[in-house]
Amino acid sequence: MQKFIVTGGSRLRGELQLQGSKNSALPIMAAAILPDGECLIKNCPGLTDVYSAARILNCLGCKCIFSDNTVTTDSSALSSSEIPDELMREMRSSIVFMGAVLGRMKECTVSIPGGCELGPRPIDMHLSSMQKMGIDIRETGGRIICRTRSGRPKGAKITLNFPSVGATENIILCAVLAQGETVINNAAREPEICDLCGFLRSCGADIIGDGESRIIINGKDKLHGCEYSVMPDRIAGATYLSMAAAAGGELILKNACVAESEPFLSILEQTGCTLNTGENKIYIRSGGRLRAVRDRIRTMPHPGFPTDAQAVLMAALSLAEGTSVFEENIFDCRYRHTDALVKMGADIQVMGKIAVVKGVSRLHGANVEATDLRGGAAMLAAALAAEGTSEISRIYHIDRGYEKIEEAVRLLGGDMKRVQ
Ligand code: EPZ
Repeated sequence: MQKFIVTGGSRLRGELQLQGSKNSALPIMAAAILPDGECLIKNCPGLTDVYSAARILNCLGCKCIFSDNTVTTDSSALSSSEIPDELMREMRSSIVFMGAVLGRMKECTVSIPGGCELGPRPIDMHLSSMQKMGIDIRETGGRIICRTRSGRPKGAKITLNFPSVGATENIILCAVLAQGETVINNAAREPEICDLCGFLRSCGADIIGDGESRIIINGKDKLHGCEYSVMPDRIAGATYLSMAAAAGGELILKNACVAESEPFLSILEQTGCTLNTGENKIYIRSGGRLRAVRDRIRTMPHPGFPTDAQAVLMAALSLAEGTSVFEENIFDCRYRHTDALVKMGADIQVMGKIAVVKGVSRLHGANVEATDLRGGAAMLAAALAAEGTSEISRIYHIDRGYEKIEEAVRLLGGDMKRVQ
C-alpha cells in the first residue's frame, strides 16, 4: 500500500496551476450521457474518481476516453441502463448517474450507495424527487430499479428540505430531457451546480436560475454534443492555501476561481495571512504564527463556509495563537482526521458537531492513516508544518481528489515523496 513520507519545516514558495474541479467533472461526465453524440470535456483532473466515472460510462455503452486532462465521450451507442454494483461501490457519488440514465434511457438500475467515511449518505431526497418526476422506484437486494411510469420523465415542482448538491444535480440531469417544466425550490447553490448547467446549456438545455435557490428547467426532446472546460477546483485551492498558511511562505494560485472561493477566503484572512486576489489569481503570504479565528467557523451550504475545507483549515489553525471553534453542520462525522492531528501534537477537543482547536506552538511528525479525502489532505498540511518526518498511509483517499499532489508540493519546495 502506498504512503507519503513528509518532512516538515520548509516554507512553501512558488506558483501553482489549479486542477479542474472533481465535484464539477463528475456530474458533467454523468451529463455526457444525455446528448446524442460526442462531447469534449477539457480541464478534467486525473483522479481515481474520474477514472471510476469513465468506467461507468463505458459500461453503459457511452464511449469514454481520458487523455491529457480531456475526457472524450460518445453516447450515440448507449446500450445499458444498469450500473454494476462493483462500479457503484468504487465511488459514492456515482448516484448522480441515476438522473442522467433515467433522463436518456427512461429506466435505471443502481445500488444503494454505501455509507462512506463521512457517515451515512442517505439518498431519500434523490429518490423522492425522481418519484415526483413520474419514476417508479423499487428497492430489492440493495439494488434500486427505476422506471418511468409512461414515456419520458415528467417535469415537476420539487422543494428540497435541504439544499442537497447531489439531489439538485440528479433532478437537473433527469429534467433536461423530461416532458414539461421542472422547478427546484431550495436548490443547492454550489458553483459546481452552475458549471454542470453551463455544460448542459452548451448541449442545448434550457436552464435558468442555477446559482440561486430556484432553478427552472424546460425539458427538450434532444440535446447535442458540445465542447466544455471544467471550472477550477476551489477546494483544491483552499487546500494549497491552507498548506501555505500552516507551513509559512508565499504562494500564487493561477486560474483560481476567486469569487467562488470567497466564503473560504473571508475566513482565511482572519488568521492574519496576507491575501491578495486578482482576476483569476489568489496570492497568499504567511509569515510567523497565524491568529485564531474569533468567530465560530460554521460549515454551511454555499455561499456559506464549505464543509470540504473544514479539515484543511483546522490543520492550519492547529498552529495558531489562540483558540478557534468549528461547527460541522453538513456531515455526521467529518472530524475523523482530528485523532491524527492530535497525534502530531495538536490540541483539539471534539464534542458532537463542535471542534475546539487550541493553537499550539509546534507540531511534530507522526505515522498516521488518512481517514477520508479531505481529512488525509489535512494530515498532509499538518505534516508539512510539523517538525520532523511523518508517514501518511491509506493515501488512496487523497488520490481520489488531488491530482499529482506530491508533484505540486515538491514544486513549492515541500519535502514529500510517495513510496510503495
Ligand atoms: C457533494 O456531496 C460533494 N461531492 C461533497 O464533496 C460535498 O461535501 C457536499 O456536496 C456538500 O457540499 C460531490 O460533489 C461529488 P449533499 P453530496 O447531498 O452531493 C444529506 C468532497 O470531499 N443528504 O449536499 O453527497 C447528506 O447525508 C466531497 O469532495 C440527505 O440526508 O452532498 C449530507 O449530510 C465530500 N439526503 C447533506 O445532506 C439526501 O437525499 C449534504 O449532502 C441527500 C443528502
